[in-house]
Amino acid sequence: MIKNFKTIVSNKSLGLKGKIYIPSDKSISHRALILGSLAVGKTSIFGLLESEDVFKTANALKALGADIYKEKDYWCIHGVGVGGFCEPDDIIDCGNSGTSVRLLMGVVSTCPIKATFTGDDSLRKRPMDRVVKPLSEFGSKFSTNFDFKLPINVNGTSEPFPINYTLKIPSAQVKSAILLAGLNVRGRTKVTENEPTRDHTEKMLKSLGADIYTKKKGLQNIISINGFPKLKPSVISIPGDISSASFPIALACMIPNSEIVIKNVGLNPLRDGFIETLIEMGGNIKIQNKHFEAGELVADLNVRYSPNLKGVEVPKERSARMIDEYPILSILAASAKGPTIMKGIQELRFKESDRIEAIADGLEKSGVEIKQKKDQLTVYGKGKNKIEGGSIIEASNDHRIAMSFASLGSISEKSIEIRGAASIKTSFPNFIDLMNSIGLNILALED
Ligand code: S3P
Repeated sequence: MIKNFKTIVSNKSLGLKGKIYIPSDKSISHRALILGSLAVGKTSIFGLLESEDVFKTANALKALGADIYKEKDYWCIHGVGVGGFCEPDDIIDCGNSGTSVRLLMGVVSTCPIKATFTGDDSLRKRPMDRVVKPLSEFGSKFSTNFDFKLPINVNGTSEPFPINYTLKIPSAQVKSAILLAGLNVRGRTKVTENEPTRDHTEKMLKSLGADIYTKKKGLQNIISINGFPKLKPSVISIPGDISSASFPIALACMIPNSEIVIKNVGLNPLRDGFIETLIEMGGNIKIQNKHFEAGELVADLNVRYSPNLKGVEVPKERSARMIDEYPILSILAASAKGPTIMKGIQELRFKESDRIEAIADGLEKSGVEIKQKKDQLTVYGKGKNKIEGGSIIEASNDHRIAMSFASLGSISEKSIEIRGAASIKTSFPNFIDLMNSIGLNILALED
């Protein structure tokens, strides 16, 4: 296994076979660390995702006063209680992780401490006004440059007021930042979302004893949290990440002779838009052994080669339920028959890279026709015609772009080289070894 790679080369695969466990859910891992740090007493986390992004959150929480360490096969946290964070000695570097920085700015903003947040080249380009604006309403102060990019100094308020905020964009990170800030505020903080987004924060807060509930009004969710709960320490088990599972799922559907089982995948109904789309496209997937773990729906997925994949229209309303899966869906769409139109996906322009641009550029270079608009992408699938490949892709610190084009290389005539692929370690550290163990043919090149 090559640990330090930046470039990978993906070659044609002859089929995937096997039973695998996928790395644990990244979103839930961040939340388990944060909420464990806010509980009083010992929280144990089984199946924490051990990836760069999650370690950024853990290190930040240690700097804020939580005691976090690994014990044999689980992680322990001795939390400081809601509002108990101390001022960090140094700048908090969140690396590539938008979830770390946005959620942590939320928690810190209503504690009477100062902290400075920064990140890598990719994170420093991403918009932070989406959290700075609502969090300022609590009374906290942020000093930032004119376009609200990192580094940002947070001057947490000692006298926060509860707020009532309607999200301007569908974002679980912004919603969670506000809810986490609301924990240390006397009274009820309310967040309204016009399009439902992943609700891991709400679920976990409830299971730890917080006074939180969601009222539904048509498509709207109004989430209300009462401040100063005593969060109880507990045992948290984290399921496999559906976003990571989407790569082997797509690969098994596209590559002849494939049949795989992916065990223990989280199927939160606000994260399952990719599965719905795949079924519409004609993907052979069976969901088995459904059960609940820590309030989250979990199942095993049996996926087989799907020779008749067809292009579909993916409606705007589904985008929040599969926001991280559009890169791999675009690869699946390239191998399907006819166009796939993905609507209402402008948020993809603000991820680890401008993902609409990155997908469009990489597919064109690899011989697949596309059309892009500001908030829409159409991929003209090749069906039974061959995908040429032979391209060199610059993944620019974007893990999902790197893994998506590694997937394209496995169905292309000529190999695809992906540069800037080290970011795979932010979410799926064993991607190359695990995928090669079931039949992919990816080579990691030493630095
Ligand atoms: C996440 C929310 C989504 C998603 C990201 C993880 C989370 O981001 O893209 O990978 O854990 O809350 P947005 O909130 O920006 O949509």
